[in-house]
Amino acid sequence: MRLQTSAGLLPLISLTTALTETPFLGFPSPWISPDPSDAEWQAAYEKAVAFVSQLTLTEKVNLTTGTGWEGDRCIGKTGSVPRLGFEGFCLMDGPLGVRYVDKASAFPAGMNAAATFSKRLMRARGEAMGEEFRGKGVDVQLGPVAGALGRTPQGGRNWEGFSPDPYLTGVAIAETIRGIQSRGVIACAKHYILNEQEHFRGSVDVRIGDKTMHELYLWPFADAVRAGVGSVMCSYNRVNGTYACENEWVQNYLLKSELGFRGFVMSDWGAQHSTLGSALSGLDMAMPGDMMGPPSASSPPYGSHWGGALTQAVLKGEVPQWRLDDMVTRIMTSFFRVHVGSYTSRPEPNFSAWTRNTTGPQYKYSNRPWTTVNSHIDVQANHSALIRELAAKSTVILKNTGILPLSKSSLTSLAVIGNDAHDNLNGPNSCPERACINGTVAMGYGSGTTDFPYLISPATALLGLSQEHNITFFNTTSNWDLPTAQSTASNASVAIVFATATSGENFVSIDGNAGDRNNLTLWDNGDALIRAVAAVNPNTIVVLHTSGPVVIDHADKHPNISAILWAGFPGQESGNGLADVLFGDVHPQGRSPFTWGKDLESYGVELLTVAPDPRSPRQEFPEGVFIDYRWFLSEGKGERGRVTYGFGHGVGYTEFEYGDLVVERVGGRGGYEVNKGRTIPAPVMGEVVDIGDVEGWTEPEGFEGWRIPRYVYPWVNATVYNSENGTARSPSIGDFPPEARDGGVQEELPAGGKEGGNEGLYEVLFEVKVDVKNAGTREGVEVVQLYLSPNNPLAPSLLLRGFDDVLLAPNATKTVTFSLTRRDISEWNTEAQNWEILTEYQQTVFVGSSSMDLRLNRTLPL
Ligand code: BGC
Repeated sequence: MRLQTSAGLLPLISLTTALTETPFLGFPSPWISPDPSDAEWQAAYEKAVAFVSQLTLTEKVNLTTGTGWEGDRCIGKTGSVPRLGFEGFCLMDGPLGVRYVDKASAFPAGMNAAATFSKRLMRARGEAMGEEFRGKGVDVQLGPVAGALGRTPQGGRNWEGFSPDPYLTGVAIAETIRGIQSRGVIACAKHYILNEQEHFRGSVDVRIGDKTMHELYLWPFADAVRAGVGSVMCSYNRVNGTYACENEWVQNYLLKSELGFRGFVMSDWGAQHSTLGSALSGLDMAMPGDMMGPPSASSPPYGSHWGGALTQAVLKGEVPQWRLDDMVTRIMTSFFRVHVGSYTSRPEPNFSAWTRNTTGPQYKYSNRPWTTVNSHIDVQANHSALIRELAAKSTVILKNTGILPLSKSSLTSLAVIGNDAHDNLNGPNSCPERACINGTVAMGYGSGTTDFPYLISPATALLGLSQEHNITFFNTTSNWDLPTAQSTASNASVAIVFATATSGENFVSIDGNAGDRNNLTLWDNGDALIRAVAAVNPNTIVVLHTSGPVVIDHADKHPNISAILWAGFPGQESGNGLADVLFGDVHPQGRSPFTWGKDLESYGVELLTVAPDPRSPRQEFPEGVFIDYRWFLSEGKGERGRVTYGFGHGVGYTEFEYGDLVVERVGGRGGYEVNKGRTIPAPVMGEVVDIGDVEGWTEPEGFEGWRIPRYVYPWVNATVYNSENGTARSPSIGDFPPEARDGGVQEELPAGGKEGGNEGLYEVLFEVKVDVKNAGTREGVEVVQLYLSPNNPLAPSLLLRGFDDVLLAPNATKTVTFSLTRRDISEWNTEAQNWEILTEYQQTVFVGSSSMDLRLNRTLPL
């Protein structure tokens, strides 16, 4: 029975009490409704309603369903409404820039944005990306990423997102979304949810408890919703037994009801598995619309779970019309919400994702009609300056015994060593999907990539600088020819040795690393190269381009290694950004967005790589909310001593002192209002469809004459494949409770009510102030970090709850102010289905320079 398997065992157990009090089980799928208290939203909603009300049944369906993999010019493209001159939506990857086009920028990865700990830079990066997507005529940017959050350090796509810390990721995703959407482009928060590894991503069943879900994985998505994100992409994996894209608990209950999400949910590419399961459980847009492959015995009759199949389901009354209307209203409201101010117009796509040539097929898969598909519009503007700034300010100096900053005037000679410092001689885009390590690595591999318009390698930047300042320059590229590396290193006063470890998405793999990394060691003989160089040069500097932590304790302890820098995946200005930090032209402010353990085992989490039955692998997350530093630092779990560099760690070129920590209660005395709202009845828009009336919704006359092969159409009977095949996989209407089709008034959830959840969660209860002084002799940036320690044996001993980057001249002092909201100091109470401040536990506020360097603390006067 659907109800037992769908919400899944764990949440049902944990929700049991709640469910008796809360009638809302996850059905029906919540519909969006007017909200006059939010004028901007209301305006967009009204435009959407006016638009949707004009649409016919098949026109509505068209906007919900992609036209098929490689069907059109964008990575995802919905059907259109030709009658009203409305082109279908163009969706393009990815989280660090426009993929599969020319003349666009390669921005630093999400994890680098996080490493800046700068809200300003996170926002600016989003704005610049948004401008580029808009310049190419894209409606939806398929990013940013908060899932994978980064449960395991080897997680293949962690770098696409921000950080395994949900607070940092929450801030970063919200700023990025605001940036993107301010430029007239809909952002897409992905992958929702628990797609924490690449192995088995399409089949793994993640069993998760309600508390872990809320306090860890859902947290940043709440911030994304609060930032008004227009779309969310549901992920490939299963959650507690049911695929994410057909999971009423994650989509209807958590996202649309509790978090009050008012945008649309689209499927990851091929992550939809049925017509009714997805429609009734909250999916709004099917991508890419077809089955992404040649027809097979298991293909559904329409070659799509939606398209004509959805039309048919509405005509049968299995999917209520209000549900379809809600899908389209959500899509169009997100559209009108970003098309405001100077962005009311809607440029058309001016490229084809499938070719860089000027001419090509409009419909790639069917190879017709041949036309001009690329206008090669240059959308880079002056973004290279921001990209360079981000590259520099995301570079984390993990170790510096005093060798840095290097001096342009007194440095006499420099050796640059390693493949990772140099250009790929075949060009930076020569490996498809960036799945190689020939030359310097500046992004991971898979769909989260772009083409580099150019890539400044570290060797190029450092050679240029050396020539300008009369520094003798030596270099060698091989990681395996250690004698040459050593002779090169011993020639120079300073030797910089480069090493990498990359990761990506599992449709490509490098050396047996199928997306996820197999281990945490450096690739391509990197560790041996570092040791060899350090053995001969007492001024060795290590630079790492890695997708996350690597085991680097040996270098930390090595007396000849004077500095270690993590530059992450810095994008096209890699070398320039690095040089800016090495020579002190930019104040280093990068702080590690994850913990550097001494070995893989010390992280306390396991990547699932083998399963007894690979068709249905199952994954428990026994560590609960204790990932990354929460694991290492919590008594009885990990060990502090197993940390080489802590979360938030990074040094600059000056020293800071902390003083005068003050905690003041500023709100929350009146208590917290549990949401008791009720919805309106589900609105139905335009003409009401007659159940059973198939006539009028079949393919139009002459259709066969102009049908595009494999294109997904909305008409009943517009069959692409043998309709006798394949419906078996889909649940039928009897598998759903009657509530699934109930469009009547519904009660809202206690933690819900607004975008991002109950408004009371965001009420500021405490203000924390601390004085930070630059006690050194150079100007510099401190990233002040605020942690909360709940002192509850069941909770992590530290939780990041604030950060700020401050630039200070020598001797200058600044008072940094943080706000703590109710959500920040609460824990999830599964029974009440709400957040709660556990007053029986003392909570302490810590401020400092990293999770391992806490300077001052005060008890919260609860
Ligand atoms: C990835 C998504 C991506 C989509 C379209 C999927 O395989 O998981 O992140 O947006 O493909 O390329």
